[in-house]
Amino acid sequence: MKKPVTVGIAGFGYWGPNLVRNFRAITECHLKAVCDLSEKRLKHMHSLYPEVTGETDYNALVNDPEIDAIVIATSARLHFPMAKSALSAGKHVLIEKPMACSTAECEELISLAKQQGKVVMVGHTFLYSAAVRKIKEIVDNRDLGDLRYIAARRLNLGLFQKDINVAWDLAPHDISIILHIMQELPQSVNCRGGASITSGIEDMTSMSLQFTKERSAIIHSSWHDPRKVREMTIVGSKRMIVYDDIAPLEKIKVYDVRVERPPHYNTFAEFQYAYHYGDTYSPYIKHDEPLRAECQHFIECINDNLVPLTSGSTGLEVVRILEASSKSLKQQGAPVMLWGGSSAPFPVMPQRATSGRNNGTSHAAPSSGTDAAHVSTPPFTGTAPVKETGRNGADHPANVPASS
Ligand SMILES: NC(=O)c1ccc[n+]([C@@H]2O[C@H](COP(=O)([O-])OP(=O)(O)OC[C@H]3O[C@@H](n4cnc5c(N)ncnc54)[C@H](O)[C@@H]3O)[C@@H](O)[C@H]2O)c1
Repeated sequence: MKKPVTVGIAGFGYWGPNLVRNFRAITECHLKAVCDLSEKRLKHMHSLYPEVTGETDYNALVNDPEIDAIVIATSARLHFPMAKSALSAGKHVLIEKPMACSTAECEELISLAKQQGKVVMVGHTFLYSAAVRKIKEIVDNRDLGDLRYIAARRLNLGLFQKDINVAWDLAPHDISIILHIMQELPQSVNCRGGASITSGIEDMTSMSLQFTKERSAIIHSSWHDPRKVREMTIVGSKRMIVYDDIAPLEKIKVYDVRVERPPHYNTFAEFQYAYHYGDTYSPYIKHDEPLRAECQHFIECINDNLVPLTSGSTGLEVVRILEASSKSLKQQGAPVMLWGGSSAPFPVMPQRATSGRNNGTSHAAPSSGTDAAHVSTPPFTGTAPVKETGRNGADHPANVPASS
């Protein structure tokens, strides 16, 4: 039997406790330490899990030779320095979304992981949900016909962030799902929004992604809405899906509806749209916790030398789109071209690496046991104010139990 992967988690605010609970439950994993700047949070953690060490200094995790992997659940601006420090010390890294605050930072992390032969994975949790897996299966079976567009709405009241706008906070989930379903990268991004509470930090954004073959997606994100909404409509030429992540049961409904234009007509009187109304059904979905699947996958990728489903490359693509959305916001919604404005092939999905760890680009480094002899470990010096925890506007898959 393989030695369990020893894990340390940084950040025990709102989301960290969910990660702690899940990593503790995985038999192939030993959760050794949790780090948070707040003594109060660590005291709480210790009351729940007395066997887990609490640290206030992140460098204690980075410099612990027993720790194989670090999970980063702190605010977005700390993702890059913390992940860089962990990778430089030869640790595998799971970074919460968004992967970092710029494409340059993501690229540096991917290259460092490649150099070190370590896994870098991003917490795009919804790709591990049974609902999204089912939607992908239906789309891949071509049951919807040709994909036309996807519309996503992720709305709630708060939590207002100070360092990132609502698109960077909430849209990473929608973007990752849309790219996963479309299997294509957009050619351009437009984004408009409004900052009605904190000047300069949009609390409402409307983003549109233009793909090839006249396919598009719209993402509406808001911290300024009375309801919690997590909805996506996937429109195909033959059928449509409505996905409601808040629904306790029947999260997905497949509508056998479509509209067709008449192929030929000579007079306006002959012109008739043909509407088809068929059955609506809700496919069976096994309700397992997406975050458990994500954590399990991270450990499997470390043990079995796999490319994660939500690899560094996936994190980079999401950040590239977010970066373009910020640029478009500054230009009052003008289109920002991506990937040279041409259709780019979507990167390969998880696979067994044939020549060592592949974080989006193949290399020949061994999958594990590689130490960081040739890379010096920069000490982590980032600090952030402790934020109040416990939110009702959580942006996680709905069947993750609320924690602390
Ligand atoms: N995958 C998902 O569905 C999902 C859901 C919610 C949040 N998230 C992500 O999780 C991350 C954390 O979000 P949150 O809502 O828990 O934030 P939070 O502010 O509630 O918690 C962050 C914690 O990090 C701690 N911290 C700050 N600086 C630190 C440092 N230098 N060393 C150690 N700890 C430090 C803070 O004390 C705080 O307890 C974000 O990146 C967010 O986007 C992901």
